[in-house]
Amino acid sequence: MPTPLLPAAINASWKRSFRKRLLAWYAKHKRDLPWRKSKNPYRVWLSEVMLQQTQVETVKPYFQRFLKAFPTVKKLAEADEQEVLRLWEGLGYYRRARQLHAAAQQVVAEFGGRFPDDVQSLQSLPGIGRYTAGAIASIAFDRRAPILEANTIRLFSRLLAYRDDPMKAAGQRLLWQAAEQVLPRKEIAPFNQALMELGSLVCSPTNPRCDQCPAASLCITNELGLQKSIPKSGKKVKFTDVSEAAVVVRKIVRKKERVLLRRCAEGERWAGLWDFPRFEIESEGPLFVRDELIAKVQQQTGIVILPGGLLKTIKHGVTRYRITLDCYEATFSSGRVTSTKEEPVRWVPTPELIDLPLSTTGRKIAKLV
Ligand code: ADE
Repeated sequence: MPTPLLPAAINASWKRSFRKRLLAWYAKHKRDLPWRKSKNPYRVWLSEVMLQQTQVETVKPYFQRFLKAFPTVKKLAEADEQEVLRLWEGLGYYRRARQLHAAAQQVVAEFGGRFPDDVQSLQSLPGIGRYTAGAIASIAFDRRAPILEANTIRLFSRLLAYRDDPMKAAGQRLLWQAAEQVLPRKEIAPFNQALMELGSLVCSPTNPRCDQCPAASLCITNELGLQKSIPKSGKKVKFTDVSEAAVVVRKIVRKKERVLLRRCAEGERWAGLWDFPRFEIESEGPLFVRDELIAKVQQQTGIVILPGGLLKTIKHGVTRYRITLDCYEATFSSGRVTSTKEEPVRWVPTPELIDLPLSTTGRKIAKLV
């Protein structure tokens, strides 16, 4: 598929004017965010990975805690993965945390602990795609590298009045081209951050604040009054309902209570995190569920349980799944844990739940017990 052409209006004088107004606006309106205090590539990288799919306000405390625990890329590389996951807990998309850890180890092993400053080398690191590589190269090293993420996709779609779905291949090619062509010669770091800031604060998804936009008179969507239909939204996600059960299996060892946990294996939704035995429920009706709980807990852990009552029902969503999770109580009946290196199973003393990285619902259940 050919790349659509940039509109003729985006000429040299348009670009000059856009750069000037955007930088002036940013100098005046930029937020004081913790990752903007320094151009250290480790900090820039960490913040950009956290900001993928997560809101600025949510990221702030995580960023501070993470930096405190791992102040340098070397410290992160040396850390235990479980500790990294514990600090990530609640941010979601845990693959990001594991890739961050792996990338830190690669920066130490291959680049002597110093971040490379070019897009191509940066992209060789786990979890660093074209956007993150462009962000680190431009923000930390002032390299003339374009960026394109959620905020700037919306901003450029509107500036150019691109009517098709910007997430499709043709749209992506056009918008990356726009992101590259608008770059100034100097001041790349503030320029790219200004693009994201304008997208985030002014060119918002619904009801953009065009009256406050420094680029309003340069924006083709504003001229045409098409703010409501640009950017075109992609296919709506179809939700799938799933019934799951989690089981809190208790056992008393020397007067102290322990609960049965397993660490999720590679390829599972919560890979690397700990969770109560948990699985999809296929049978209908409470009579059959009891047998299914016994069979599936034994299959996952080796332990035979005596099921008890329903503790709580938690409804939550993960990606396109709408999950109804029934949490049951149970006591230990017989058997030994079948623990492997890949998929360890442990009887954990309840006070130690605090230090283990748990799945989101695992944490909710842990608070109940
Ligand atoms: N979203 C992603 N990266 C960002 C950044 N550096 N500033 C503001 N919003 C962002």
